[in-house]
Amino acid sequence: MPKILVLYYSRSGNTEKMANAAANGAGSVARTDVELNYYVSEEQLSDYEAILVGTPTYHRNMPRIIKNYFEEAAMKNVSLRGKSLLLSDLMDGAGNVQS
Ligand SMILES: Cc1cc2nc3c(=O)[nH]c(=O)nc-3n(C[C@H](O)[C@H](O)[C@H](O)COP(=O)(O)O)c2cc1C
Repeated sequence: MPKILVLYYSRSGNTEKMANAAANGAGSVARTDVELNYYVSEEQLSDYEAILVGTPTYHRNMPRIIKNYFEEAAMKNVSLRGKSLLLSDLMDGAGNVQS
């Protein structure tokens, strides 16, 4: 059964709500195993076939904590090759031009 991770970072709750909705939607697909989490270790990313990352926009970019996380995963040689990866960001309207 394909494992899907919905991983999110949220300070004021908007992204958390979106992540919840995404996990519910993905969970309604038959024969999928969906996990909603705000943290898994970088190494654990290997366990999933698809990863949806929910993040707010900070200063027209993704938050440093998200960048650091994926940079750390790369440094630990965690390969995301062949996985479906969707990065989704929430913002107040000042476009996200750099992430
Ligand atoms: C420090 C900080 C910087 C932000 N920078 C931007 C920005 O550049 N553009 C934008 O449209 N929204 C910006 N926002 C608004 C957030 O992206 C938006 O409120 C988002 O929904 C917050 O997500 P959360 O509730 O999951 O924490 C910023 C918010 C904070 C706290």
